[in-house]
Amino acid sequence: MADKIHIFDTTLRDGEQVPGCQLNREEKIQVAQALERLGVDIIEAGFPVSSPGDFDSVVAIAGAVDDVTVCGLTRAVENDIIVAAEALKGANRPRIHTGIGASDFHIKHKFKSTREKILERGVAAVKLARNYTDDIEFYAEDAGRADNEFLARLIEAVISAGATVVNIPDTTGYCLPEMYGAKIKYLRDNVPNIDKAIISCHCHNDLGLATANSIAGVQNGARQVECTINGIGERAGNTSLEEVAMVIKVHSALNCYTDIVSPELSGISKMVSRLMRMPVQPNKAIVGRNAFAHSSGIHQDGVLKNRENYEILAPEDVGVDSSEIILTARSGKAALNHHLERLGFDLSKETLSNVYTKFLLMADSKKNIEDRDLTDLMKSLEISIN
Ligand code: KIV
Ligand code: ZN
Repeated sequence: MADKIHIFDTTLRDGEQVPGCQLNREEKIQVAQALERLGVDIIEAGFPVSSPGDFDSVVAIAGAVDDVTVCGLTRAVENDIIVAAEALKGANRPRIHTGIGASDFHIKHKFKSTREKILERGVAAVKLARNYTDDIEFYAEDAGRADNEFLARLIEAVISAGATVVNIPDTTGYCLPEMYGAKIKYLRDNVPNIDKAIISCHCHNDLGLATANSIAGVQNGARQVECTINGIGERAGNTSLEEVAMVIKVHSALNCYTDIVSPELSGISKMVSRLMRMPVQPNKAIVGRNAFAHSSGIHQDGVLKNRENYEILAPEDVGVDSSEIILTARSGKAALNHHLERLGFDLSKETLSNVYTKFLLMADSKKNIEDRDLTDLMKSLEISIN
């Protein structure tokens, strides 16, 4: 039987930390409700202690969604946990996400502490959080660069203290997929109580490997993936939700599924991009403007013969109306004919060849050819609709 992968969305926390992407409370509610429709399992609504505005937004989101877990981030600090618990009071399913740095680099240079003291703080934070909810996620920050033996000890201790989800962040986006996958496997093999918790992947995209690393985590037993819409997030961003959801859908050999309603992906991508004033790069996988656009002659001919020659996803599956055949100077006769037929022109082979020669002259001097350009061209050649 296929395993469910829980989708933990952190667009409103890790994503919203990006300079210029801040949302007001109403906008956050709009995004949270769209995430619920999309079918995510957990919404990380914010970091309640960070500002009164973030606290209020977490309270508002907790009251605005029904059927999804609402999570608040904390450091392993008593007041953070008390404030997060207060903010989450109205949630049907509250989760506290607490944690601390786990790499020697963070322990030494950020906390100026020792492994033992960090472990004690992590355990104390989880125990305190358990007073407020049974759903506790622990993050071992910078786990990607942490020593696996210490990481395993820390994870065992926080699970014993009551953590139900253990998050293994590659905070700096350092890992290769094999390394990250091996880390998850190491924890499965070396943490005696690991079956009492869900392992979660939280990957950053500094080397462009966030999605690959998250999938490597899933292949090695992680059953939750933390991600954001459009992959927005600190620096080069987080794992992109739409990529993970579609990788899992396309590759049935992973033997996993998510509850993501994939036709909602395009709409929520546009909503987040607009509200956060963060354009999506045209070649972004799944939701970029060009993700289903074909412009070279060879590809266009192939797609017109059978879409699956060059598409592994159906555009409707992610909420895009249809594939696009873009006319440029790289297009072939098949693409030109496709558009002319659409506009009502039925040309013989010979006429099409003549029109194509003129079309190339026009396309060389213009980046994209629109319907209007084609009708003008046909008018200039005195060819009318038959
Ligand atoms: O990247 C990270 O380590 C985080 C944690 C706070 C979960 O965002
Ligand atoms: Zn992060």
